Amino acid sequence: MTHVFTIAIDGPAGAGKGTLARRLADHYRLNLLDTGLTYRAVAYALIQHALPLDNVSAAETAARQVDLAKLDRAVLSAHAVGEAASKVAVYPTVRRILVEKQRGFAKTPPGAVLDGRDIGTVVCPDADIKLYVTASAEVRAQRRLAEIESIGGTADFIEILADIVRRDERDMGRADSPLKPAADAHLLDTSEMAIEAAFLAAMAIIDDVLAKRDKA
Ligand code: DC
Repeated sequence: MTHVFTIAIDGPAGAGKGTLARRLADHYRLNLLDTGLTYRAVAYALIQHALPLDNVSAAETAARQVDLAKLDRAVLSAHAVGEAASKVAVYPTVRRILVEKQRGFAKTPPGAVLDGRDIGTVVCPDADIKLYVTASAEVRAQRRLAEIESIGGTADFIEILADIVRRDERDMGRADSPLKPAADAHLLDTSEMAIEAAFLAAMAIIDDVLAKRDKA
């Protein structure tokens, strides 16, 4: 049986894990799944149908309808959709449906980079590599502000920071699959690191694991 290679990347919103996941998937020629988009798709469906985010049975139906091949980042990337996603993500039945799909994706050869909150702990506990990418809330808020300003928008740093802290609390504090580093995850703090440096650091970790495996 050919080995399917899995890289699990977890961390809070805005730590840079999405960009890192994309770079790593390109470099190692693996499939890529931003699992946040699956929770966003559920939230988006509820919003579209004007349903409350705590309508669990509607959220389950929306979760079953999520098609991993049709996740539209442009539509799902809105900030409000991310907030709503964090709320529907607390429901265990919704998570179970999405996790099944994510595991199916991870098993498809040649393997994948998956990024999210519970990849190393729940979705792919046997991943070949686990990275936990983090950065201080202030740095993440600063990056988000710069991103908004770069496309001509305006925002308030204090509000962004409060938003980030609130989202962290919800994602880390929920009972089912809270955001936390897996015991065997490599920690990557990008607070004082540009994306290129984070990519090089991640590559060094991965190449080291691969070299040890080749020798074994
Ligand atoms: O990474 P993101 O901002 O697109 O994720 C949106 C929300 O989805 C996040 O706040 C919590 C939830 N999520 C999750 O619970 N588990 C994942 N594996 C990915 C995202």
